[in-house]
Amino acid sequence: MADFTLPAASRYNDVPGVSHAAPAGATRVKTFRIYRFDPDGVEKPRLDNFGIDLDHCGPMVLDALLKIKNEVDPTLTFRRSCREGICGSCAMNIDGVNTLACTKAIDEVRGDVKIFPLPHLPVVKDLVADLTNFYAQYAAVKPWLQTRTPPPPDRERLQSKEDQEKVDRPSACILCACCSTSCPSYWWNSDRYLGPAALLAAYRWIVDSRDEATGERLDALDDPFRLYRCHTIMNCTEACPKDLNPARAIAEIKKLLVERQH
Ligand code: SF4
Ligand code: SF4
Ligand code: FES
Repeated sequence: MADFTLPAASRYNDVPGVSHAAPAGATRVKTFRIYRFDPDGVEKPRLDNFGIDLDHCGPMVLDALLKIKNEVDPTLTFRRSCREGICGSCAMNIDGVNTLACTKAIDEVRGDVKIFPLPHLPVVKDLVADLTNFYAQYAAVKPWLQTRTPPPPDRERLQSKEDQEKVDRPSACILCACCSTSCPSYWWNSDRYLGPAALLAAYRWIVDSRDEATGERLDALDDPFRLYRCHTIMNCTEACPKDLNPARAIAEIKKLLVERQH
């Protein structure tokens, strides 16, 4: 019988969190309940409470995190860069959903705002998940143009508008990992299943009319774990904050593999 009990070091309910009340006189207070884990500390993970005066805070969850870090607890650790949904670094689990803190409006969350790191990854500190394996899987699909023929002497390799449209949407992936870390197949097999983000990247190059390694790319995916662990559960597509469709890309790869057998 499988044991689904979390190891003691991963449970956050055993240790009471620290509570920081909103400033006196605040009238529009929202409580942020944030997962804390210090790899150098002696304590287990915990949930800290931060009361935030929304009249003195920007509208997005990332605004609240920055306010907490700047004004309440400078040790709170999270990734962020662009603050406009482009870099993918502020991905985390907010109100039970993987998404970007910079594009998630505080108003969209009813009640307390619960924030955890992306699920089913080792935690480096607080809201920072370890993406080493995720990036290695991305690199494994060779996400660059592979050619054998020499380029035209007088211009770059061109493609038609229709062919460009095939790679246009998949190229918009910001590698935030919201999809892969919402995929149950990835949770249980991330050592061998590439996951939706890496497979979307693979698809982007498979359908690129300029690429000349399509056969090798398909060979590399024709494997019971790397590709076929996808059971079309669709969590990935629902989770994508850029409205991309990795589940469809995976289905298209499977179709191409079937077609080339005939
Ligand atoms: S469709 Fe495939 S990749 Fe997407 S969540 Fe489901 S199993 Fe995972
Ligand atoms: S497909 Fe969407 S959710 Fe997945 S990594 Fe790319 S942008 Fe993020
Ligand atoms: S800070 Fe770049 S996507 Fe959120």
